[in-house]
Amino acid sequence: MARRVSRYVKQANEATAAQLARDLPSTVCLKDTNFNAELKRTPQLSSEERRVIWDIIDTNMRDLASGSSMGWDVQEKKNELFDPVTSRFIVVRCSEPSPDNVDIIKAFVMFKFDYEVQVAESWRRYGIGRFLVDQIIQIARRFKMQKVLLTVLKANKGASRFYTSMGFSKDETSPDYVPEGATDEDVEPCDYDIMSLVL
Ligand SMILES: CC(C)(COP(=O)(O)OP(=O)(O)OC[C@H]1O[C@@H](n2cnc3c(N)ncnc32)[C@H](O)[C@@H]1OP(=O)(O)O)[C@@H](O)C(=O)NCCC(=O)NCCS
Repeated sequence: MARRVSRYVKQANEATAAQLARDLPSTVCLKDTNFNAELKRTPQLSSEERRVIWDIIDTNMRDLASGSSMGWDVQEKKNELFDPVTSRFIVVRCSEPSPDNVDIIKAFVMFKFDYEVQVAESWRRYGIGRFLVDQIIQIARRFKMQKVLLTVLKANKGASRFYTSMGFSKDETSPDYVPEGATDEDVEPCDYDIMSLVL
């Protein structure tokens, strides 16, 4: 069984942007607003797109992560986010005039078969986060992954509720996971959860 899984992971990792984007809708209408979505690897992002993506994640996460066990090391985070080989992005733009202007990225999900979803603050609760995570779930299913995993800070209550609403639950690899019937005495205290969705 292990050999089958590693073959699938290898295939998924080697897939081109075009193969990964096969079922990605190029446009989506959410709350009467039209958005478009595009899948790119890091080398296909312009420097302006990289700047906007960094701006969204830095605004969304810096304070939350700096005060946590994860920390916020800018260079380390940029290297991880924009890895030229392993990182792929689905970026979402608004395809009609919008208050914060033109053709600027409003949200993205970066995935390497783990992933990072970020929606700019004024564009939340449109369903963009759900749309992006749904795309990751569909790609993972198509490449025969067994589950989708993510890490979320416990202090990030909105994101935890978002993932719960999408059917994710605490994964057994989470440091403070308590198996059914066990007591939580031996559990390591920890400020984040690993959540998963079994496919
Ligand atoms: C978490 C995040 C990605 C959600 O994106 P979003 O586009 O606002 O989410 P959606 O509009 O698709 O929400 C889908 C459902 O999730 C739940 N949900 C989303 N945000 C929520 C919040 N802040 N509080 C409670 N429930 C929430 C709701 O059930 C929502 O459905 P509803 O709007 O019909 O009630 C977004 O808030 C974000 O980018 N946050 C900052 C970055 C971040 O924390 N990323 C996750 C790192 S682990």
